[in-house]
Amino acid sequence: MRHFTEICPFPESERKRLAARSYILWGIPTGGIGAEIGVFRGHFSEAIAKRLKPKKYYLIDPWTCAGETFDWGDAYTNFGALKTADARDEAVNRVRSASDAEVVVVEGYYPLCEDQIEEKLDWAYLDASHSFENTLNELRHIAKQMKPQGVIFGDDWQPDPAHEHHGVFRAVQQFSRTSNWQIVACGPGAQWKLHRMKRPNAKKHANATNAASAQTKDVKKPKPVKKRSD
Ligand SMILES: C[S@@+](CC[C@H](N)C(=O)[O-])C[C@H]1O[C@@H](n2cnc3c(N)ncnc32)[C@H](O)[C@@H]1O
Repeated sequence: MRHFTEICPFPESERKRLAARSYILWGIPTGGIGAEIGVFRGHFSEAIAKRLKPKKYYLIDPWTCAGETFDWGDAYTNFGALKTADARDEAVNRVRSASDAEVVVVEGYYPLCEDQIEEKLDWAYLDASHSFENTLNELRHIAKQMKPQGVIFGDDWQPDPAHEHHGVFRAVQQFSRTSNWQIVACGPGAQWKLHRMKRPNAKKHANATNAASAQTKDVKKPKPVKKRSD
């Protein structure tokens, strides 16, 4: 009997890219609760699970909600031969074989299914719709589901305006310009990563403000300058 991966091979170019992407996992705390939005067959989920050893891993993808097979992707989806249920099962098996994580499968379109994420997240990997508007919307929603020190990271940082996934590049930058999240890594392996900007220490800030206003009270008002009548 032929093995599933022989019937539905994963493109060699994507297999090679997996290694180029893994650096983005460095610095993310292990043992946390994370979510991947846009999972497909779980090739990168396996790398995430192996490196980050999550306690709980939400795998979010429409899979069978999108139909029996994928209607996009050419070689990536084996020209219509790959079944969405097989992709889902492969992803779950990959994560289970790489870690002891509690795996939560969410078959749905993010953010419509956001309520199925039960707790705040330590990290979220975004690799879903890829259009500018939808990615920006996904970022705005996932940001609200993150712990204060949470990390959002993802795939398809494509600076070339002609690239089909250029929308992600634009959305991540637009999001960082309009929120308190800043880009801390981007480029190699088409990866990107966002951290929340640290707010100034509220107490220190208040003390500094009080000291400044006390100083202003001591400053003598300048005498009014007489207008010259000539
Ligand atoms: C490029 S693949 C993900 C690849 C995977 N992250 C990896 O690195 O191997 C994109 C996936 O996003 C899924 N997707 C598209 N729109 C989505 C949405 N709104 N929410 C969640 N997943 C979505 C697709 O079904 C597809 O499986």
